[in-house]
Amino acid sequence: MTRMTVNNQPIQYALSPDTPLAYALRDASNLTGTKIGCSTGECGACTVDIDGRAVRSCTVAIGAIEGSFVTTIEGLARDRDHPVQQAFLAANVSQCGFCIPGMVMAAAVLIREVRDPDEEAIRRAMSHHCRCGIQPRLVDAVRRAASIERGDETVAPVAPPGTDARDAARGVPALTAPTRRPQS
Ligand code: FES
Ligand code: FES
Repeated sequence: MTRMTVNNQPIQYALSPDTPLAYALRDASNLTGTKIGCSTGECGACTVDIDGRAVRSCTVAIGAIEGSFVTTIEGLARDRDHPVQQAFLAANVSQCGFCIPGMVMAAAVLIREVRDPDEEAIRRAMSHHCRCGIQPRLVDAVRRAASIERGDETVAPVAPPGTDARDAARGVPALTAPTRRPQS
């Protein structure tokens, strides 16, 4: 049994201690916001916060982080309004979205540690792979997130896709709970 705290909840994993954290999070905790791209520590899609550090969770065995505090994208901000999330939404950074949770977690750790990160610091911390090519917008979005975090600026709230009345006007169906078919 491996104990740790995940998103402020005490967790005991009845898994082999060699299990990579990314798989424990997704398969045992159903925290599927953490993505798995390469499983070799290259792409960054699986990045989570472990004890305040941005860590590629496919490279870490759960047995090696017993007692740690882990935060995933689901636990970053209750209303999905962390400064990084605000800045990414405002700049429309995301394309397919696969790499975004790992990028957001890495950026969140960066702006907590560095009040005003320059381009070099951002590129060093965000060496993630993105097959959609969001990198040109990334540096500006992270700098803006740092600015929001410092309280130097605010952004107008932007609703995630599917929750905005303007999406409905464009014919994008709103997210609704699945309806249950009557039993025959
Ligand atoms: S899945 Fe972990 S770094 Fe790619
Ligand atoms: S937004 Fe598609 S992989 Fe990055």
